[in-house]
Amino acid sequence: MASPCTQRHSSNSSLLFVSVALILFMLSAGCASWSWAGEVSPSVKILVTYHSLSGGTERMAEAVVEGAKSVPNTVVVLKRVGVVTAEDLFSSDAVIVGSPVYWSNMSGEVKTFFDNWQFKFGVFPEFKMKNKVGAAFATGGQVSSGKEVTMLTILAAMLGNQMIVVSGGGAFGASATTEGDSQGIDKRELADARDLGQRVADVAKLISRISSK
Ligand SMILES: Cc1cc2nc3c(=O)[nH]c(=O)nc-3n(C[C@H](O)[C@H](O)[C@H](O)COP(=O)(O)O)c2cc1C
Repeated sequence: MASPCTQRHSSNSSLLFVSVALILFMLSAGCASWSWAGEVSPSVKILVTYHSLSGGTERMAEAVVEGAKSVPNTVVVLKRVGVVTAEDLFSSDAVIVGSPVYWSNMSGEVKTFFDNWQFKFGVFPEFKMKNKVGAAFATGGQVSSGKEVTMLTILAAMLGNQMIVVSGGGAFGASATTEGDSQGIDKRELADARDLGQRVADVAKLISRISSK
């Protein structure tokens, strides 16, 4: 007959086995993790997309990705606007769009990207982007020559699609002044970009948690 000590030992082993199996199951399912508070942390997918000729907006995009990836269970896809597919858009929980400032507004490539939501991807009339999280970032050559307008026009396109827009970094998103050279982007601006990515991932998780209830 097993001694009480042996019994306690074997029930501890069973408990350990069940716990490990549960953790392995959750990891292999890949769709949720548990916080210390015992809450489910859903997996979210974030598309970070941008246009960049001289590399400044691309540098900010990489920092946005870094911030988003700092949130556990977040899958991030980084693509130039011209190669985004319908699948990229519709499979994402959040879309973060970056543009250089061209004449105080988003660049033509970024505008074409939004127009293609209809021409190529047919988002309307079903509002297929509805309730996805949206955010913006921008780089401009001068300190005050259209970065905020650029971010606001990106957010306006998202609002028109019934997305849930959020800021982060700055009041309207993250931005940097390049003075025509991507090396001009400073640490604080890159930190703002990381902050934006992190905030979008956090909010996308909140929305996902609410909509799965
Ligand atoms: C056609 C064109 C128009 C521009 N218009 C503005 C402008 O109105 N305001 C501004 O601050 N910078 C303007 N710039 C500078 C770019 O916004 C800036 O160099 C930006 O960081 C470039 O981004 P990229 O390095 O990702 O290509 C303009 C550049 C070009 C090529």
